[in-house]
Amino acid sequence: MLEASHGLIAITGAAGLVGTGLRRQLREQGYRLVLLDRKPITDCTPEEQAVLVDITDQAAVTAHLAGCDAVVHLASCTTDAPWAEHVRLSIEGSISLFEAARAAGVMRVIYASSHHVVGYHPRSLVLDEHAVLKPDSRYGVGKAFGESIGAMMAYKYDMRVLAIRIGNVNTKPIDRRRLGNWISWRDLGQLVSLGITHPSLRFEVVYGISDATGRDYDNQAAYALGYRPQDQSEPFEAEVLALDPVPVQDSPQARAPSEITKGGVFSDNEFTGSSERLLPRSSH
Ligand SMILES: NC(=O)c1ccc[n+]([C@@H]2O[C@H](COP(=O)([O-])OP(=O)(O)OC[C@H]3O[C@@H](n4cnc5c(N)ncnc54)[C@H](O)[C@@H]3O)[C@@H](O)[C@H]2O)c1
Repeated sequence: MLEASHGLIAITGAAGLVGTGLRRQLREQGYRLVLLDRKPITDCTPEEQAVLVDITDQAAVTAHLAGCDAVVHLASCTTDAPWAEHVRLSIEGSISLFEAARAAGVMRVIYASSHHVVGYHPRSLVLDEHAVLKPDSRYGVGKAFGESIGAMMAYKYDMRVLAIRIGNVNTKPIDRRRLGNWISWRDLGQLVSLGITHPSLRFEVVYGISDATGRDYDNQAAYALGYRPQDQSEPFEAEVLALDPVPVQDSPQARAPSEITKGGVFSDNEFTGSSERLLPRSSH
């Protein structure tokens, strides 16, 4: 186990939304942080050091990872941008980061994946970590690639890799769909911390969600690692349903991919398929 007060953790994409919230969670747990981003970070605390770097610059990233105990890999393209952006940031960026970590001897990577890797599964099905990949977007494909390279690194080189399929990080669930995939900041901090410290981690895929028992995901793999979410989506259900009621059956909204599947608007983007194919097999 790492001595929390001595742990030095690198975060890629540290200037972004998740990075900014996670910095606070990890500082509170006693870690010192190396913050890697191509955007400047100007509000570093004494426990933090910011480095301006592009993650595709493998040699530079290797140098900055030296001496770190683990790296939390957040940097990626986070919109459904054209393929070229995903190839450069999510694919080449992840290859660069994993290889840099290996070269620097940083053998623990916590990888920010996304529920969009399974976004075209019906929302009504409860999925565990063994679900077949059904990315709903170029974004989801890029995230799935990161999981694959993580698995190879873990088994080929003995790296320890935790891929967290994050749902939506926020202070509370913001709509009906997010009741099933919301994660609070402190629960995300706990999951990342498990990736940093778990003594027998090899390669695990978990869902980055707070307690949403019975909804979209069965997160037993996370619980097996010791995850005990402190927050639940259920207390927010009435408030959310008042603002985002269940659509009328057979209405255009009820038949939209964003309503049928786990992926939301990413499932709707550029959709020219047949909605029936997105329903559970037994119902068509
Ligand atoms: N926000 C969520 O709820 C959520 C949900 C699922 C998954 N995720 C994943 O978590 C990670 C962080 O998400 P976010 O919401 O903070 O995104 P964000 O867009 O706010 O932050 C991404 C950060 O990565 C940096 N970055 C991108 N390319 C880079 C490069 N080549 N070199 C260096 N830095 C680079 C950007 O400058 C930015 O600061 C992403 O991998 C995302 O896919 C987030």
